[in-house]
Amino acid sequence: MEIAIHAHKPSTDKMDCIVVGVYEHGILSPAATLVDIASNGALQEFIEMGDFGGQCGETQILYQLPGLATQRVMVLGLGAHGKLKDSKFRKAVQSAGKALQQAQITQVSFYLLETPVARRSPAALSKILVQTVMDADYQFDHHKEPSENPRRSLTHLHLNVAGGAEEEAAIKQASAEALATARAVAWAKDLANEPGNICTPIWLAQQAEAMAQRTGIKSTILGPDAMAALDMRLLLGVAQGSRQEPRLIILEYWGGSDEQAPIVFVGKGLTFDAGGISLKPADKMDEMKYDMCGGAAALAAIQAAAELKLPLNIITVVPASENLPDGLATKPGDIHKSMKGLTVEVINTDAEGRLILADALTYVERFEPDVVIDMATLTGACVIALGHQTAAVLGNHEGLVHDLISAGKESMDRAWELPLFEEYQEQLKSSFADLSNVGGRPAGTITAACFLSRFTENYHWAHLDIAGVAWKSGENKGATGRPVALLVEYLLNRSRQTA
Ligand code: BES
Ligand code: MN
Ligand code: ZN
Repeated sequence: MEIAIHAHKPSTDKMDCIVVGVYEHGILSPAATLVDIASNGALQEFIEMGDFGGQCGETQILYQLPGLATQRVMVLGLGAHGKLKDSKFRKAVQSAGKALQQAQITQVSFYLLETPVARRSPAALSKILVQTVMDADYQFDHHKEPSENPRRSLTHLHLNVAGGAEEEAAIKQASAEALATARAVAWAKDLANEPGNICTPIWLAQQAEAMAQRTGIKSTILGPDAMAALDMRLLLGVAQGSRQEPRLIILEYWGGSDEQAPIVFVGKGLTFDAGGISLKPADKMDEMKYDMCGGAAALAAIQAAAELKLPLNIITVVPASENLPDGLATKPGDIHKSMKGLTVEVINTDAEGRLILADALTYVERFEPDVVIDMATLTGACVIALGHQTAAVLGNHEGLVHDLISAGKESMDRAWELPLFEEYQEQLKSSFADLSNVGGRPAGTITAACFLSRFTENYHWAHLDIAGVAWKSGENKGATGRPVALLVEYLLNRSRQTA
């Protein structure tokens, strides 16, 4: 995908398709007005026919309007005039993206940055636009037989700028950031959508290594022997019921100064979660291939940082394992000693994410991190609490939690805080070990984070529970790439602070 910024007039634009906005009650955007003038009123005539109401997300392609260099004008409904919010803008762009895909258009020019949207600059709109269009263009179809008409995807995306040179420079910068983010999102989706028989811990580590080589990041991969030498008995305890060896993926991007303490990402890389001996029910169990979405996001975020050459030091650590039932699997009641030294009674083998994360969170102490952010499809309870719109964030440092919530708002990849009050720790008491791995049904997302908090006392830490947002079920089943956009936004904010 190639992105270019122009200050064209719609009438002379030679792209395969140009997109202009129209509001309800036939109110034309400035770009639509120019199309109307150039075509001698053809656009106005079409709207007066009454087929197009201008509702948010409505689309219609008009072919071969007179007086225009392009063959196709997509009219895009923007809803009520003067009332546009960023969520509505994104919704409109999303349906434009889908309509472009349906029409198999590969070159498109958008005249939408002039749209007044509450609290969003044209540069911010360009970011939303690029990411949304690339998101809509995404497909995961390489396991299907290639059809006679292979799907064409977007190759050229042009953005038209109405403002001056300063605005143009801001939009250039924003769209470059958006492109790197969108590529990272697409890669995270690719990793996550791959089924469990392909996406194993070893495969995931290979993908990470290949990306690291491509982008000049340092990579280290640990197997079971190295884990045993490090006393990572919680990670090994989860992996022991699987015939696939676990991996600990460690990526290091040193783009900042030597004295800058690194930002550390830890992502849950559970490549398939059957629950272990505490076996899950069959319904929707296939979706547990997505239990590595946190790991995919952590890998994708560091890729984006390297591509953008951010002046930061960043480390990504992904514990990767399967969780399956087996004769040698961990049994309910088994006790394992963590790398940190705390012993854990595994009451429910399906609460495995916190176990593999605990050892990874202990491992990262060696980097003397500035902050540690982990992300994980950790609890079904999070889906009940926040649904599929919002990730949960919990942590031991107010400033970090706040920064993540802000990054979520800016990138439209939102997270909201749940409390991590001391009193919840009670629920993790075990009769026979230092900790139980489950805290009962009440506040399941919080007690999972409480468990992690016992391993993160030595640094500033926040945890993102992405169980509700990492993938979609049903007809449009697929990974979403969340929270890659949030993480990259956080990194961009951090790099602006250091600049
Ligand atoms: N990966 C799951 C969490 C999950 C379940 C995410 C469904 C998205 C949809 C995790 O490993 C798990 O099984 N958690 C248990 C914990 C419980 C046993 C305390 C859960 O949420 O049921
Ligand atoms: Mn589980
Ligand atoms: Zn899991």
